[in-house]
Amino acid sequence: MLQRLKALFGSRPKESRTLLETDNVPQHIAIIMDGNGRWAQSRGLPRVAGHHAGMKAVKRITVAADRLGVKYLTLYAFSTENWKRPKAEVEFLMKLPQEFLSIELDELIEKNVQVRMMGYKSELPGHTLSAVEEAVEKTAHNTGLVLNFALNYGSRKEMIEAVRQLAESAREGSLNPQDIEEKDLSAKLLSAEIPDPDLLIRTSGELRLSNFMLWQCAYSELWFTDVYWPEFTEDHFHEAVREYQRRARRYGGL
Ligand code: FPP
Repeated sequence: MLQRLKALFGSRPKESRTLLETDNVPQHIAIIMDGNGRWAQSRGLPRVAGHHAGMKAVKRITVAADRLGVKYLTLYAFSTENWKRPKAEVEFLMKLPQEFLSIELDELIEKNVQVRMMGYKSELPGHTLSAVEEAVEKTAHNTGLVLNFALNYGSRKEMIEAVRQLAESAREGSLNPQDIEEKDLSAKLLSAEIPDPDLLIRTSGELRLSNFMLWQCAYSELWFTDVYWPEFTEDHFHEAVREYQRRARRYGGL
């Protein structure tokens, strides 16, 4: 416990040390990393410079989540709708996973982080997919933080695919539609092996879900900040977790 507290507060200036409850850390934090483009434009930089700076924030927050003892960190890196962006921006975004992993994979392995991907693989360029798959493979046996990249992910598509699978089982006669329960649909989603997010963070002041984990976030605590993703720091991350710890989760009960 003392070690964990030291890890959290050891090197920080005194005024920013605010007590976090170490026994009430969200097990799963999901983040909509928004505001890269506006961050860049506000500095007179091209939008892609914002994505590059966003990649550095990914590193920062992965380290912060690991230090805090979060078990799952899901990051919305590219949505099924993001293909609509200009070709050059899409190409840049598709190069970031391999750049990130070429720099960080060794450290992720050292930190016992398990990399996963949640999204539709077939549309991804080969170089993106092979970088991610290599990381997934090399970290598959790690038991620490699960760093889950939502890449070419869309919640409605995910739900439609799940419903199709259930409907297929019903047609074959192996499933009675009347017996379908929540857990049956959950089991068909791309997130089947991870628990629902406890806390959903969205940066940049936008107050919407943008087709992100709509089913899974039914009872997640939502936290929004005006800070653009490239400027999001460990302190902001702690602020979100502290707010989460102040909330009473009732799941529809009293
Ligand atoms: C939304 O900001 C952000 C994205 C569509 C991309 C997010 C990607 C990263 C943060 C880097 C990912 C890194 C790895 C390692 C996979 P926006 O561009 O829509 O911002 P805007 O609303 O200000 O235009």
